[in-house]
Amino acid sequence: MKGAIFDLDGVLVDTAVYHFAAWKELANKFGFEFTEADNERLKGVSRMKSLEILLSVGNIAASDKQKEEWAKEKNERYVKMLENLNENSLLNGAKQYLTKLHNDGILIALGSASKNAPLILKKTGIEDMFDAIVDGNSVSKAKPDPEIFLKGAELLGLKPEDCTVFEDSQAGIEAARAGGFSVVAVDKFNVLKNADRYITQLADMLII
Ligand code: BG6
Ligand code: MG
Repeated sequence: MKGAIFDLDGVLVDTAVYHFAAWKELANKFGFEFTEADNERLKGVSRMKSLEILLSVGNIAASDKQKEEWAKEKNERYVKMLENLNENSLLNGAKQYLTKLHNDGILIALGSASKNAPLILKKTGIEDMFDAIVDGNSVSKAKPDPEIFLKGAELLGLKPEDCTVFEDSQAGIEAARAGGFSVVAVDKFNVLKNADRYITQLADMLII
């Protein structure tokens, strides 16, 4: 491995729970239950695609304009939940593993679908630990399309086969696979498949 590309939500930072909470509030407002199993399908995919999946679970049809408004509403709820985010919100072993890779001369990129990535990196104080950043503001195709990771590798000046992707979503694993990367699944609940290796948290990578 010459480069490591990290997903953000659920891999480096404990924000996946807030995404779920904000979507659940929206579903409850519409009058239907949104379960953790439903939420698994939203992980890694873009905000608008997530809304479309949620609406299909609730069997709700809407115009594009209405969808824009609901996506905005969800994001406002979510960003409010991010207010108290700080270094303690980093997941177990995340900062230590980034530091170890850096010290070992491995190049590090972010490969996240989130448009809130800059805010999250700033609040958790890890923005300077990346050699390249690709997020929802700089790509047009969402995971499972490999664009995010291919762009990350390109910015690092590396080939996909020399990089490992760290992901907690099935869409992200498929994106990494499609791009020709090896992939480590951060699979706390034993629900992911098609990865090269499975860990429960990045702290597992520090155990020799
Ligand atoms: C991904 C999350 O990292 O970012 C998804 O796993 C989320 O759940 C996506 O929908 C987009 O995030 P944001 O912050 O731009 O709404
Ligand atoms: Mg994720």
